[in-house]
Amino acid sequence: MTERSQPRVRRIAINTGGGDAPGLNAVIRAATLSALNEGWEVLGIRRGYMGLLEGEVDGEAGVFPLTAQAVRGITHLGGTILGTTTRGNPFGLEVRQPDGTWGTVDRSGEIIQKFREQEIDALIAIGGDGSLNIAHALYQKGLPVIGVPKTIDNDLSATDVTFGFQTAVEVATDAIGRLHSTAEAHQRVMIVQLMGRHTGWIALESGLAGGADVILIPEIPYDVNRIAEKVRERDAQRRRFSIIVVAEGAVSVEGESYADATGRYRGVADQLGDQIAAATGKETRTLVLGHIQRGGEPIAYDRNLALRFGAAAVRCIREGSLGTMVALQGNRIRAVPLGDAVHDIKRVAPDSELVMTARQLGVSFGD
Ligand code: F6P
Repeated sequence: MTERSQPRVRRIAINTGGGDAPGLNAVIRAATLSALNEGWEVLGIRRGYMGLLEGEVDGEAGVFPLTAQAVRGITHLGGTILGTTTRGNPFGLEVRQPDGTWGTVDRSGEIIQKFREQEIDALIAIGGDGSLNIAHALYQKGLPVIGVPKTIDNDLSATDVTFGFQTAVEVATDAIGRLHSTAEAHQRVMIVQLMGRHTGWIALESGLAGGADVILIPEIPYDVNRIAEKVRERDAQRRRFSIIVVAEGAVSVEGESYADATGRYRGVADQLGDQIAAATGKETRTLVLGHIQRGGEPIAYDRNLALRFGAAAVRCIREGSLGTMVALQGNRIRAVPLGDAVHDIKRVAPDSELVMTARQLGVSFGD
């Protein structure tokens, strides 16, 4: 943990960056109320760091006071009252060049300057790996920062769980469960594509809980022939329908994956659908569950984890433990150095107990 001698704190700021995740508002509420209880002022910055750079937009100030009133009744709300952006990296902001092409500009120095002008003593930056990397780089440039890990993908190595993940698993499990009856009625193969970027946490946990027959995750490359075998095997047992859960970042044994040039994943379910239909002769339908996994209310687990993270972030500031990220390890909230926290992606271990459990139940991973 990085300790710095801490001058008296008077004012802190909070922002949310990257894709939203259910539970962001619970962090904002817990951090705000805990900070107000310390006697500090709290400012909310809109859309990551953009509120600082853009000032007022649509009649709303880019930076505004977070009072007890401002955070009332928001624990259960999805989204973020601060707004967010995936295109707000102050080290490389997109700008239109005079010749019409797009380039990037580094405005990180301005951000540090604005924090100084507004006499903000510490920032609570709530984000996933991208936003936490930015927060770490700003910390290295002198900004006192505490990170709070957020992502439905659950792919941050320094914390056992991120808030938002269990809500996404719940939504996906419900969707998979609903597919069973229609799949069985039509004797079809249903393929459902879930989020998770380059990790298979959502697909694995919801696939297992939802009773999928095949679970495809990036950590275990799949062979279409093996999937087709599983479908045929079920047919032979008069289970004439199959549910296939595929993580958006799943990779075939030939090394094919479906990320576009911007890093967005799309297309794996449709591609697989065509391949499985051709290999088995069965009617196949695909579903991309998409942003529904991120929308709406956080489940109780995520609300409580988010509230714990928010309160812990304020304790870190009080104790002068800056340049850290709050993390869940076991059942305890700890502060880990931000640099370590953004170092590695947490992937599903192919020999993990969850994978083993699924295999023991007859689930195929397409390998
Ligand atoms: O990282 C969260 C996540 O929802 C991923 O699972 C998904 O690949 C990505 O964000 C989608 O990003 P966007 O909201 O920019 O389409």
